[in-house]
Amino acid sequence: MPLVHEDVQLRDAFAGTTFPLTEVYYVGELLFYPDYRNSGLGKKLLDRLESQIRSLGRYRTLTCATVERPDDHPLLPRDYIPITRFLARTGFARFPGVTTHFVWRETDGVMRDHLMQFWSKGLI
Ligand SMILES: CC(C)(COP(=O)(O)OP(=O)(O)OC[C@H]1O[C@@H](n2cnc3c(N)ncnc32)[C@H](O)[C@@H]1OP(=O)(O)O)[C@@H](O)C(=O)NCCC(=O)NCCS
Repeated sequence: MPLVHEDVQLRDAFAGTTFPLTEVYYVGELLFYPDYRNSGLGKKLLDRLESQIRSLGRYRTLTCATVERPDDHPLLPRDYIPITRFLARTGFARFPGVTTHFVWRETDGVMRDHLMQFWSKGLI
């Protein structure tokens, strides 16, 4: 989704940057069922997404946001692979100081505030 059409808490995260919001495209989620992971589909999907966004001719930056959680989070699955690995492998870099907050209900039924860290990748 073009960032300008996203919610205010996503748009406001870029307020202190020099990035024109109209040139930023936000990717909300990439998610495969476990059986389909780790066989190259994520990379292929991202490549197609990028080429489609490039073809629109007006976006210079791709961005996404990841939730910041402690490494010793009690619900961390034993075989958990941090999404940061996929992002680094596909050319995204952490966007220092560009963060936002989302509140959602977790599996124990409690609403919690989550710090979200943005990542970016040049499209040119
Ligand atoms: C992240 C995800 C979309 C990547 O797609 P994929 O098809 O598995 O990835 P590819 O096969 O193209 O690339 C392999 C890379 O994906 C990453 N990866 C593989 N399994 C993963 C998993 N279960 N969770 C997170 N990243 C994973 C690794 O970095 C791997 O690279 P490596 O060779 O350095 O280990 C997919 O694994 C997934 O749905 N993971 C769980 C959900 C998630 O974390 N989504 C991101 C939230 S926006």
